[in-house]
Amino acid sequence: MSYHEAPTIAAPDAPQLDQDDRPTLRFVTCGSVDDGKSTLVGRLLYDSKTLLDDQLDALASESKTSGTAGGDLDFGLLVDGLQAEREQGITIDVAYRFFATKLRRFIVADTPGHMQYTRNMATGASNADLAVVLVDARKGVVTQTRRHSHILSLLGIRHVVLAVNKMDLIGFNGGRFAAITAEYLTLAGQLGISQVQCIPVVAPDGDNIAAASTRMPWYAGPTVTAYLESVDVAGDISGRPFRLPVQWVNRPHAEFRGFCGRIASGAIATGEAVTVQPSGRRTRIARILTPGGEHDRATAGESVTLTLADEIDISRGDVLTTGAAPLVSDQLAAHLVWFDDDAMVPGRRYMLKCGTASSGAVITTLKHRIVIDTMARENATTLDTNQIGYVHLSLDRALVFEAYRDDREMGSFILVDPISHRTAAAGMIDLSLRRATNIHWQRLAVDKSVRARLKQQRPCVLWFTGLSGAGKSTIADLVDRRLAEFGRHAALLDGDNLRHGINRDLGFSSTERMENVRRVAEIAALFVDAGMIALVALISPFRSEREMARHRVEAGEFIEIHVATPLAECERRDPKGLYRKARAGELPGFTGIDDPYEAPQAPEIAIDTSELTSEAACERIIRYLQEHHYL
Ligand code: ADX
Repeated sequence: MSYHEAPTIAAPDAPQLDQDDRPTLRFVTCGSVDDGKSTLVGRLLYDSKTLLDDQLDALASESKTSGTAGGDLDFGLLVDGLQAEREQGITIDVAYRFFATKLRRFIVADTPGHMQYTRNMATGASNADLAVVLVDARKGVVTQTRRHSHILSLLGIRHVVLAVNKMDLIGFNGGRFAAITAEYLTLAGQLGISQVQCIPVVAPDGDNIAAASTRMPWYAGPTVTAYLESVDVAGDISGRPFRLPVQWVNRPHAEFRGFCGRIASGAIATGEAVTVQPSGRRTRIARILTPGGEHDRATAGESVTLTLADEIDISRGDVLTTGAAPLVSDQLAAHLVWFDDDAMVPGRRYMLKCGTASSGAVITTLKHRIVIDTMARENATTLDTNQIGYVHLSLDRALVFEAYRDDREMGSFILVDPISHRTAAAGMIDLSLRRATNIHWQRLAVDKSVRARLKQQRPCVLWFTGLSGAGKSTIADLVDRRLAEFGRHAALLDGDNLRHGINRDLGFSSTERMENVRRVAEIAALFVDAGMIALVALISPFRSEREMARHRVEAGEFIEIHVATPLAECERRDPKGLYRKARAGELPGFTGIDDPYEAPQAPEIAIDTSELTSEAACERIIRYLQEHHYL
């Protein structure tokens, strides 16, 4: 089939790209080198009738000379605009394409399929609302698909269209499509990609791209274009607290002072109270000025100039807020996608730019690197180009942020090399390591030593770590009883139990496990402050978080007990039947099976329960406490 008799572009129903009232959807495309991604994007452009006559002419003649479609229009050529990528036959940089239909305007970031270009994909996906992930129907979900989906989930993309291409080459087999769909939905579920639409397509022929295919009558879902036109990606950004990062202060004369910027989230009305961060000063909105005139209200995405009821010192980079306070901090934990050709080395200085604000910053520690194929964490001292790591950063001054998962705009930043001015990395903020500098420590008259003396004991944390089913809770429970017999005041913090209460919002992703451990470490430290002995039974699989827990209390107050029952033994016992489920693939990300456990290197006490009974293990711990004067 030939497309040479294509309709002319000036057709009356051709969308006008300069018309501004249609909402814009930004999406990113990703897929393996020859899944047909460029063809799909080319076909979307072509079917939207937003190509110009001269582009079509050029396409027709180029298709004859260098196309791969046997003289028919080669839609890939529309997109593979870069010289180098034609030479290599792969896409090597991010290309932005614009097209529109009657209902929406679209900006497509076309990113390379080739594996080492994580940074390009991060660039393309960083402000996308949705991703179109391409797979070849003959191959289904491959490593590349997993890798791309991992990066998408890390970048906070929650909407994916899985385009299963080349359906013609598998004889339009609906059963095969269903199997690929099921496999991808499992992956997406694990990654928190909440909305997935799977569509069977033949990109060069346009089946299910803009027009429903007649060759796959078993498919009743939307076409790619119809889905992109109707998907709701607005999410809850307009329902979030109001945030306006100030871009500049407009002061044309002494009587007028307006604060200009684009509303990052939420909505604001005249008369509403706002807090200026990081100063924490409060005032009210006097007027809301927009390019379309003065209004009573404005919402996320609008560019506005606000005037305020009081004269407050506000400058570029400050943020006007309502509702829950944002993070205001000079100490951050974040994921970094490393862009620079020079490897990342902790200790070097960079300029951190977050929206309209910037500050000098030092990467203090690389906590771990992420193996993109599996999302596993590995110990590392540097990050090379295209690698992703989790770091701690120390800034010269406190800036105003949000966690990336809550707000991708205020939760992301770039690091700029101060000498070369190159963008060295893109970052996604996980959490603030120190709360706002304007929260001060309250001095307490009755302190830990007073409380410990009242109880006549030496407060400490007994931290039981080990695999699920190792015997942590059982031994901790026995030790707790023995401490009671000694007249000691203790509290037992058990992972499973806490997950019914304070930690019930947490799952088992690395981040959630880290948060789980952080909270329990805080609670244990509060018990120590109250003069108590805190027994903690938690898998706590990561060394760095256990170290963090150790440093939350004073030297000598933390006793790490490795319940070092071997995996095979835990699995044999399987008290909750979870290993069986994990082996059956019903419980993905289970510690020891397909999620890591980093054993302690120098625990105060190590116990292998395949050699010791729980009672003997308990006595061993009691003896340690006596010998080291805790009892
Ligand atoms: S931790 O990794 O975050 O420290 P925690 O000790 O709180 O884990 O909880 C572990 C318990 O949760 C296990 O004993 C088991 O009963 C249950 N569990 C459910 N899913 C998982 C999983 N994917 N990995 C480990 N434990 C799990």
